[in-house]
Amino acid sequence: MSDARTIHNLALVGFMGTGKSAVGRLAAQYLQFTFVDTDELIEKEAGKSISEIFAQEGEAAFRQYERDVINALSAQRGLVIATGGGAAADPANLASLKTHALVIGLWASPETIWKRVRSQTHRPLLQTPDPQARIRELLEARAPAYRQADLQILTEYRSPKDVVQHVLHLFHEARKLK
Ligand code: S3P
Repeated sequence: MSDARTIHNLALVGFMGTGKSAVGRLAAQYLQFTFVDTDELIEKEAGKSISEIFAQEGEAAFRQYERDVINALSAQRGLVIATGGGAAADPANLASLKTHALVIGLWASPETIWKRVRSQTHRPLLQTPDPQARIRELLEARAPAYRQADLQILTEYRSPKDVVQHVLHLFHEARKLK
């Protein structure tokens, strides 16, 4: 980490279904930080759901909303930020988050991700005939980007509470070293 780095916030990146929102909410409670979810910020900004944005405006428009809400977070303090699964795939988003937040990557296997997301319908990218293949393809394509997070945590076979303890430990240690 460069000396210019300041850690005012905590950001979670990683694939859909790795627990960014569940872990982020809990971490914010413990830290007494404000929890924000970039998907929720986008929905508020656009005045419609993520599915509606994808259907009516397309993925490129969604990614622009995503860049805008992420950039707008840089001036804030005391946030736990859960990002959408594709956010960190754009190096500009990751670079922006790293200017003010410790960025932690959450990981799970494609099989676990599928188990966690299969009963949900709000993710347009998984509304395909073979969502499991889509998960594998996207995860493989994005893995190099997720690996650019500051630290990595495997969430496999662990409760959100246990993952949160790990996240908090890493956050406190990183802040101490600054
Ligand atoms: C996306 C993940 C979603 C949401 C959108 C696109 C992606 O967020 O941003 O559906 O590209 O992986 P979650 O990771 O919170 O499901």
